[in-house]
This record gives sequence, structure tokens and C-alpha cells, in this order.
Amino acid sequence: MGTGYGYGKVILFNEHFVVYGIPAIASAIDKKTIAEVKKCKDKEFIIHDDRDATPGYKEEKLKQQEESIVRIKKAMGIEDCIEIWLHGDLKAASGIGASAASCAAIARAIADEFGLDLNDEQINEIAYEGEKAYHGSPSGIDNTCAVFGGLVWFVKGKGMEKLKIEEPVEIVMGDTGIVANTKKAVEGVRERREKYKEKYDEIFKEAEKLAYDAREALLKMDWKRVGELMNKNHKLLQEIEVSCEELDFLVDVALENGAYGAKMTGGGLGGYMVALTPGKELQEKVAKAIEKEGFYALRTKIGI
Ligand code: MEV
Repeated sequence: MGTGYGYGKVILFNEHFVVYGIPAIASAIDKKTIAEVKKCKDKEFIIHDDRDATPGYKEEKLKQQEESIVRIKKAMGIEDCIEIWLHGDLKAASGIGASAASCAAIARAIADEFGLDLNDEQINEIAYEGEKAYHGSPSGIDNTCAVFGGLVWFVKGKGMEKLKIEEPVEIVMGDTGIVANTKKAVEGVRERREKYKEKYDEIFKEAEKLAYDAREALLKMDWKRVGELMNKNHKLLQEIEVSCEELDFLVDVALENGAYGAKMTGGGLGGYMVALTPGKELQEKVAKAIEKEGFYALRTKIGI
């Protein structure tokens, strides 16, 4: 039996913009998907998905998951049948990098089962192939976080740089419970960007500047400034129409309860938002406020 893991992630700045080569900042979180893989007979593959999930997520993503496994096997040159078990403490939900974490975990588990000596760069390339089934043409930020972990400055086509902060800082991730389609969200931005070129050029310029400001503030651990910039980033994401009522509501709840900043995270149109809540006390306050409204709140950290 081979085993492998992949981290969940939170995008702190510039999801969607990153698809067009604008820098983005993301962090792995301390939740993982674990895969176990065993050679078997019969079919091409058998999958047992035992991950805790947002209701409807697994059903909605089943076809994409199957295509992703076919892609991963092909990229690894594996023709044998494999049986896969997925579990771990990362909830299968939109916006938290669940698909990328599972691709990284499966690639590592296959490599382990078949005795392939692959380094993280190679696992990352394979996970990226798997991600294409979920995203169409992903930027690569999710699989990079899933494979390498840490706090990451990412530019599509150029790769990543790890950002070092002295101490991890608390965040809360609030789940709208809505299963979202990233592919559709990305396509929507592409269509509107063509249609409203001038407006979108302006927004994209702002997003680019914001990335550099955010990088500086993060490295200084200036959480007030990081929070302000997260709020600004959320506004830009609203302008390109990838947020939704539920995400905006949870962002407001977090800010009303003292979060330094809050924004949607990931593909949007549902899934998760993130609030910056330095210190255990503030984290608990914001998480409780989100839970009081009937939503799931994940307490975790960035820069782990
Ligand atoms: C999804 O987690 C992030 C997006 O920017 C898509 C991508 O980068 O491939 C929306």
C-alpha cells in the first residue's frame, strides 16, 4: 500500500487575477488530504472517497475526479488498475484547495506504491495535470500550495517563491456551504474581461499593485495593513463578479466582529471566505460569530 498527502490552501490575494499572470499570495493550511493506493485487478481504478465533505460536493465533482485520476495515471505512465482511498482532516469543499490536495496526495501515493522516485517538482507537475480536470486551465497556485506547503508568492508560468514570516498567524475560514464550479467562474471572468476591456484593465492594474503592497506588509507582519489590503482585494473580486451574497455576508460578519480584514477565497461564487484574526481570542470571536449565523468556521493559521 502506498500513501501520500496534499495540503489544503487559502488564497490571501489575487485569485482569478493570477490566471492572467498577476502575482498572487497563498498559504497552505494545517489540514491535509491523505491518499492510500494499492495495485488491483479489474477496472482502471476504484475510488473510495472517505473525506468529510460539504453536502453535494462529491456528487458534483465525481466526473471531474474520475477524469483527474485518468490524467494523473497517464502523466505517471501507470497502466495497472489501482484502488484509491481518500481521507484526512481537510474537508472536501470549494475554495480550500480540496481538488489540488487530493491530486497531490494521489500522485504521491501512486509513486510510493509503484516505487517511483519522484521529487516535489515532479509531483507538482503531475498534480497540475490532475487539476486540469477540475479547472480547465489552472494557474497552478493550488497544486503548488498542496505539494510544497508554506506561504507562497506565485506567478503563473514563473513559479513560486516561499515567503518567510517569523510566526504563523491565525485566520478563520467561513464556508458558505455552496458547492462552486471554478471552471465556470474562471470562464465568466474571461468573457467579461473581453467585453468590458477598459474597466477590467483598470481593475487588473490595481490588483497587480496590491500584490506588491501585500507582500511587503506580510513580510513586515503588519497585520493591520494586510487586513486593509484583503478588504481592497475583496472589492476588486466583487467588481469582477466572482463573489456572491453569502460570501459578502460572511465577510461582513467577520469585519463586524473585529477581523483585521476579510475576503472571499478561491474560485468564489460560493465556497469559502477568509478572515485575518491575529491571536487566539479574536480568532475564536470571529469563528463563533460565523457559527452563530449557521455556517461552518475553520480555525487555522497561515505561514505554517
Ligand atoms: C482557484 O483556487 C484559484 C483561481 O485563481 C483559479 C486558478 O488560479 O487556477 C480562481
